[in-house]
Amino acid sequence: MIWIHRNFPRGFDDISKAEMLASGLTQVSERLFTGDHFDLSNSAYAGFTVEEISRGKSAEEAIKNICIDIPSPYRVEKLQGSKRMGSLTYAFLAEDHVGGDIRAADPAAIILVFTPDGTCWVTGFLREKEDSVVEKLGEITERTCVSLAAQAALALVNLAPDEPIVDPCCGTGLIPLAALLRGKETYTADNNYKMLRMARLNRDLLDLDIEMPHKEAMEPWIENCCLVTDFPAERSWMSNTKDVSLELFKAWIPYIKSFCVILPNRLMENLPENIQINKRINFTADRVIIIGTPHKLLTKQLFPVN
Ligand SMILES: C[S@@+](CC[C@H](N)C(=O)[O-])C[C@H]1O[C@@H](n2cnc3c(N)ncnc32)[C@H](O)[C@@H]1O
Repeated sequence: MIWIHRNFPRGFDDISKAEMLASGLTQVSERLFTGDHFDLSNSAYAGFTVEEISRGKSAEEAIKNICIDIPSPYRVEKLQGSKRMGSLTYAFLAEDHVGGDIRAADPAAIILVFTPDGTCWVTGFLREKEDSVVEKLGEITERTCVSLAAQAALALVNLAPDEPIVDPCCGTGLIPLAALLRGKETYTADNNYKMLRMARLNRDLLDLDIEMPHKEAMEPWIENCCLVTDFPAERSWMSNTKDVSLELFKAWIPYIKSFCVILPNRLMENLPENIQINKRINFTADRVIIIGTPHKLLTKQLFPVN
C-alpha cells in the first residue's frame, strides 16, 4: 500500500484534492491519500509518497512490527501535521528492533512514522519527488503568465479526460508544455505574437517538439480533442455584453470530445445548454474549473467527409 502526502498552496486546495482523487486514490485525512500505485513524478500536488512496511496501535508498536531488512544506514522521521522531522527516539527504537545503522545525512533509506487517522500507526519507505514534471515546468515559470501556476497547469492536464489535448489560447504555453511532458498528443496556438514568442522560448528551453502557430481561437481549427485552456480573462472585445471566454468556449463545443477549462465564476449561471458538466472545482481569483463533455448529438465536424 502506498500513502501519498499532498501539498496545497493557498487557494489550490480543491484542485489538489481533485487531482489526487482523479488518479484513483482514497482520501484518508486532509493531506493523506492512499492507493495501490501512484506516479509521484507526474503529479502536480503530491509532495512525497510512503510505501507502507508495518502497522501498529502506537508508533512504538509499528516500529517493532517492522519485519523486513531496511537498507542501512537509514534515517527515521516522524510526520506532525504537514511537517516532517527527524526523530531520535524512533531512530533508537528502530535500531534496537531492526538493526542497521542510523545516519541523518545521505541515508540509503528514510523510514517515516506517522498516523493517518490518529488511531493506527504506519511505518514506511519515504520517497521524495525527483525529476518531476513540476520541476521541469518550474524552469520556465519566470516567463509565464501569473494567472496560471505551473502546478495548476499540470493538474488540469492530469484531470482532463484521456484524449488528445488542445489549448487554442496557450499564452506562454504552460498547458501544452505540461501535456507534452506527460506524453500526451497535444495541439496549441494563440493569437498574440508576444505570447507565442514566450511560448516558443519555453518550448525550446524544455527541448519539446510542438508547433505553436498564430491562430484565431474564435474559429476552431481541430476536432475530437479535449479542450484544456485557461481562457483570456478580460471582458469582450466583441461587445459589452458578451464575455470573451464564454464566446470562445461556445465556439469550440461542437468540435471537441471533452473539456477541462477555467472560467470566471460569474459565467456559471450562463453556461451553454449543450454541455454536461461532470466535475466542478473551485479555483483561484473567482474562477472555476469545469470538466465534462458536449452533448453528443450536437457535435459537428470541422472537415465533413463529403
Ligand atoms: C489567460 S492567458 C493564457 C495563459 C496561459 N495558460 C499561460 O500559460 O501563459 C489567455 C491567452 O489567450 C489568448 N487569446 C485571447 N483571445 C484570443 C483569441 N481570440 N484567439 C486566440 N488566443 C486568444 C491571449 O493572447 C492569452 O495568451
